[in-house]
Amino acid sequence: MAEVKKRRWGRLVALGITLAVLAPLGYLWATSLVPGTYDPAEMGYADYGGGPASMEHMHHGGMSVADLTGPRSGTPDVAVTLVARKQKYQLKSGESVDGYTVNGTSPGPLIRARVGDLVQVTFVNESVPDGATLHWHGIDVPNAEDGVAGVTQDAVPVGGKHVYRFEAEQAGTYWYHSHQVSSDEVKGGLFGSIVIAPASPGEVVAVIHTYDGKRTINGRTGTGKVDLPAGTTARVRVINTDNAILRVGLVGTPYKVVAVDGRDVHGPSAVTAAYPLAAGGRVDLEAVVPADGMRLVAGTTAVSLAIGPADPAKTELPKDTVDLLSYGTPAPLGFDPAKANRKFEYRIGRRPGFLDGVPGLWWTINGHKFPDVPMFMVAEGDVVRMTISNTSGQAHPMHLHGHHAVVLSRNGVAATGSPWWVDTLEVGNKETYEIAFVADNPGLWMDHCHNLPHASQGLMTHLMYEGITTPYRVGGPSHNTPE
Ligand code: C2O
Ligand code: CU
Repeated sequence: MAEVKKRRWGRLVALGITLAVLAPLGYLWATSLVPGTYDPAEMGYADYGGGPASMEHMHHGGMSVADLTGPRSGTPDVAVTLVARKQKYQLKSGESVDGYTVNGTSPGPLIRARVGDLVQVTFVNESVPDGATLHWHGIDVPNAEDGVAGVTQDAVPVGGKHVYRFEAEQAGTYWYHSHQVSSDEVKGGLFGSIVIAPASPGEVVAVIHTYDGKRTINGRTGTGKVDLPAGTTARVRVINTDNAILRVGLVGTPYKVVAVDGRDVHGPSAVTAAYPLAAGGRVDLEAVVPADGMRLVAGTTAVSLAIGPADPAKTELPKDTVDLLSYGTPAPLGFDPAKANRKFEYRIGRRPGFLDGVPGLWWTINGHKFPDVPMFMVAEGDVVRMTISNTSGQAHPMHLHGHHAVVLSRNGVAATGSPWWVDTLEVGNKETYEIAFVADNPGLWMDHCHNLPHASQGLMTHLMYEGITTPYRVGGPSHNTPE
């Protein structure tokens, strides 16, 4: 009898232990589930950054994202139609890729506009099964033109179209890409470049992308050549459309970093170092073409572009890198970061748990997992400071939509060079950046990692202007999946 009792007790204790372990796990699992459809404006919890949360600051009370459009009337100066397809295609160097094209190619066509132009892009989804959109990466367009599925529009289904209209305000190098299932569609080729500046004889646009593990410049593996006469002042606009940072630069002659993320660098000096180009970022390199040519290097000379009258030697990039924290000379910012009335923290971490019911090691923002992440709340006209820190074990190229921010410091060291304006900032593991910007573009804006799989794993939140609403839903009948 005593034996039976003991056994029964043993079983009960075992069951108790099992429940003690499973019940909280079940709770964590259940609370991690992301609803099938949700309002991105209602996501997470409001973080007012120490600023007012009161109604009197809701200048845009009840203003819908859908009303924050570019000019609805007026004849466009630049009008293009871009057609997205899912298809097998060949790189310029011949390799075949199963992915996505824009007007039959990847990268898609270069769009060229001048400052002041009204740009109109008619986007047609011919055969991208998940739907698609176009986001104008780095162009601070009005919110409704931002191209984020489930936030600023519905994903364009197969057979559908969407017209984007915006004014080109800031000269520079930009790119466009799908912001629907972007981690798959961008990787597969649904992107292209857009340059706001008149064409010049020394201009070279170099779009770097890795297709199926093959790194390319302008859709070509290996080496290419651009003929330019010696003595030409070349401006090489380099765009990193991949998910990881890449060392780029010109070899064969010193060069200047004349623009970063579509903003001119003030007082650039000539360098021979490499430039660390963040995923999603752009850099414009300027040099006078030497008699025996120069070479744009994307990582290593195995993927490079000879520029000039001759094919120069394959010299690899030097070890040292350009540091924008001290590069160039200071210039007025146009606002005073010391007068900030909102101060946010964007602390990136990582911890084990469930995300949408799936166990794993997941990114956290200020200790919270997606979708319970902070919503950074601002009002139009606010001066905003944000401290982005990263202890997650990996680097993250952080991209804020709709705004350019200036870097104030890195790891407590103040910026001393040219104003360093960014839309995409590489934040390495154990790094802390302080940035500042003016909230001058009302809407609901993504603020996420541009290593796109990271965004799809929850490293994503929004900057939201008080009083803004959106009629669009993540999920829902349009299957909006921005990441
Ligand atoms: Cu280039 Cu939210 O993206
Ligand atoms: Cu990341």
